[in-house]
Amino acid sequence: MAESRAPGPDAAAPAPAGTAEASPRPISAETVSANPAPPVPASIAPVATPLLDARLGAAAARFGTPSYVYCTDLAGERLADLRAHLGRWFAISFAVKSNPNPALLDWMRDRLDFLDISSGGELALSRQAGWDPARISFTGPAKQEPELRAAIETGLGELVLESLREAELANAIAARTGRVQPVLVRIAPARVPKGFGDQMAGRPSPFGIDVEDAAEILPRIARLPHLRIIGLHIYSGTQCLRPDAICENWRIFMQVFSDICTAQNLRPEKLIFGAGLGIPYHPGDATLDLGAIAAAIGPELDTFRADPRFVGTRLVLELGRYLIGPAGWFVTRVVSVKQSRGTRIAICDGGMNANLAASGNFGMVLRRNYLIHRIGGDEDGARPIEKQDISGPLCTSIDKLGGGVVLPRLEAGDLIAIHACGAYGPSASPLYFIGHPLPREVLMTGGQLRDITRIGEDRPHRGTDPTRTDGAR
Ligand SMILES: Cc1ncc(COP(=O)(O)O)c(C=O)c1O
Repeated sequence: MAESRAPGPDAAAPAPAGTAEASPRPISAETVSANPAPPVPASIAPVATPLLDARLGAAAARFGTPSYVYCTDLAGERLADLRAHLGRWFAISFAVKSNPNPALLDWMRDRLDFLDISSGGELALSRQAGWDPARISFTGPAKQEPELRAAIETGLGELVLESLREAELANAIAARTGRVQPVLVRIAPARVPKGFGDQMAGRPSPFGIDVEDAAEILPRIARLPHLRIIGLHIYSGTQCLRPDAICENWRIFMQVFSDICTAQNLRPEKLIFGAGLGIPYHPGDATLDLGAIAAAIGPELDTFRADPRFVGTRLVLELGRYLIGPAGWFVTRVVSVKQSRGTRIAICDGGMNANLAASGNFGMVLRRNYLIHRIGGDEDGARPIEKQDISGPLCTSIDKLGGGVVLPRLEAGDLIAIHACGAYGPSASPLYFIGHPLPREVLMTGGQLRDITRIGEDRPHRGTDPTRTDGAR
């Protein structure tokens, strides 16, 4: 998980009692009400409301803690917002790595255009969620024979080739299967603008074919008889909150696509723009302005698409966290409170083991607090507002969910909610470390809550008796 660095206007907002240190703009009271579908909001940032707290509290009471709660209404709003601003140019592909829960993938099936997977395991989860393999692409720098075979045999839409080795292996598998496999070639550009939390190109990188090698490698792939190059793919940076940097990156993509397609005489069916759209994780982070992106890059996208070489080309935005990150909360319960040398520390039942990203250990350079609030607020002033640390249940000092967080005074039994946890949650966490019960996953649609826990069905969850081996609660 990348550190998001861009400061934003929200930083100045005062902290209402019972919410996080700095308050994001309040928009989504409707979202956590039952219905009807709200209008597309100008900006999307989750905020604590009594209704949200009631629902998160109900999820914790019914399913236990720690839990992830995913709100499909909010994800739906975000999708509508994406389409409203960028749908004129782009179809949307969801990166399964960001949240592979099959119930969510199922929800997405009739709403999104494509899925991108990065392993045989994600292929199986996507198929379990009912996705047609023809709408699935497959990225990943170290694909191996069994997963390639499974993907090709099942009728995968596009294989995203990241090397010549992979192309030759895929060609041999496709030959045995009697298929000609459509492929996209992943290109690593020479430059990524500043402003991305994580960079996958612009320096030595395991991902894709370096743009300077494309002229040599693409013709060799094109000669493989059981592969058909139908386009190109770039994913060079994630977690960017700056519209200017996103636009600059897409300009680089357009140049790379034009140069390669001209040199190789390609009329691509598809070009994948690795979106890089970031989300606010920390107090003070900006909310990405999709309108500013559309206004700045729209005319250039129009010109690009008017090129005869690209008139029949489908442009696709590949993204994960932007869609689902802010639509999820991590709910954990305070087990114990310690006053230690002047610092109040709330110790919770789920920490880094269940939510690596929120602990700051998922690729973050400097640990920064996520947006956090106490469910139930300050109980009408009964809880003084003070700085507290929040840690998890592990026997390591890196298991910390918050340092100096300004919250109503926490007591044992309290619930806290961490925002922006819908992406890179359980599947990106060291769930087996120290053997605590696994987090639950809960789907919230209107007022309905549904247990959609996937991971570790063989392991006890909170609410189960961990000493029982017969699976009974
Ligand atoms: C190839 C590829 N596609 C999509 C994504 C999704 O990124 P994000 O969740 O930041 O949108 C990633 C993230 O690392 C990626 O590597």
